[in-house]
Amino acid sequence: MLELLLLLSDGRFHSGAALGVALGVSRASVWKQVRVLRARGVKIDALKGMGYRVPGGLDLLDSRAIQARMSEVAVSAIQQLEVFDLVDSTNSLAMEWARNSLSDGAGNYACLAEQQTSGRGRRGRIWVSPFGKNIYLSLSWRIKAGYTAIKGLSVAVGVAVCEALESLGCNGIWLKWPNDVYHGQSKLAGILIEAVGDVGGDCVVVIGLGVNVSMPDGAGCEIDRPWTDLATLGHKLSRNQLAARLLSSLVSALNRFEAEGLDSFTADWQRLDGLLGKYVVLTIGSENALGIASGIDSNGSLLLDTPAGTQSFFAGEVSVKEWR
Ligand code: BTN
Repeated sequence: MLELLLLLSDGRFHSGAALGVALGVSRASVWKQVRVLRARGVKIDALKGMGYRVPGGLDLLDSRAIQARMSEVAVSAIQQLEVFDLVDSTNSLAMEWARNSLSDGAGNYACLAEQQTSGRGRRGRIWVSPFGKNIYLSLSWRIKAGYTAIKGLSVAVGVAVCEALESLGCNGIWLKWPNDVYHGQSKLAGILIEAVGDVGGDCVVVIGLGVNVSMPDGAGCEIDRPWTDLATLGHKLSRNQLAARLLSSLVSALNRFEAEGLDSFTADWQRLDGLLGKYVVLTIGSENALGIASGIDSNGSLLLDTPAGTQSFFAGEVSVKEWR
């Protein structure tokens, strides 16, 4: 299926016969593959006498192209990098690697997928993951100092993602604590961090990242809150280049976080913190806390100025009550 997509990725018409020859299958089998791909949401035109085309072409992910654009440090830090056509969730795959790596001692691992059938967001939400247009990436990373050393990691990861996007010219983005990436009042990227290991012992974290690059028509209807994508913001980026930049930035931030701790991210956080001074509500389970956001503490917890004084919260979901 991926081979057919590679042939169609140039956006031009290809006859069923030519595709069949190139793939070593019958025209009927080409048609069957086209139907399967359409059912997966891939837009393929079929025109009598012309054949098939993917309007606008495709910018497919390629592990070698990603590695060729990654920093040397990132290439040597990641033992294996895989690109999949279709998975349930790249985080679930990376979690499997993470669990196994606790016993077999394997190194760090990254995977990306063209499409996820069960993309997972925070708080049990789904992450809408249509084919071939966005970034769905997970990185399994061993934290050398163990479980207790991951406090504040979410914030460092959010900073790393923003820095990667900014390095490609995407300005005006900000972080909503702890690490939702926003532009204006719309979400551009989300991060899901999971961990395996023993408290006081070994720890492997899985950092899952979804970036809306160019959401196909209709797919965004399933998202229940304001969202945006890089294409809407005027950025036409190669997904391989973007994936490489994200992985390089994540590896650099993880190394820095492990060596220097969260303190070394304070200035970056202050620059990107879009909640500072806003009147917000923090929802923690069935409880709400209201206050003016006033940054983070040394553990990466959110600080809220409330009528009862400044309080810190290590978990919860923030929404802004007043944007002014
Ligand atoms: C959120 O903001 O709710 C977090 C979204 C995280 C989505 C990414 S996409 C790649 C990885 N695989 C998943 O199933 N989830 C994360």
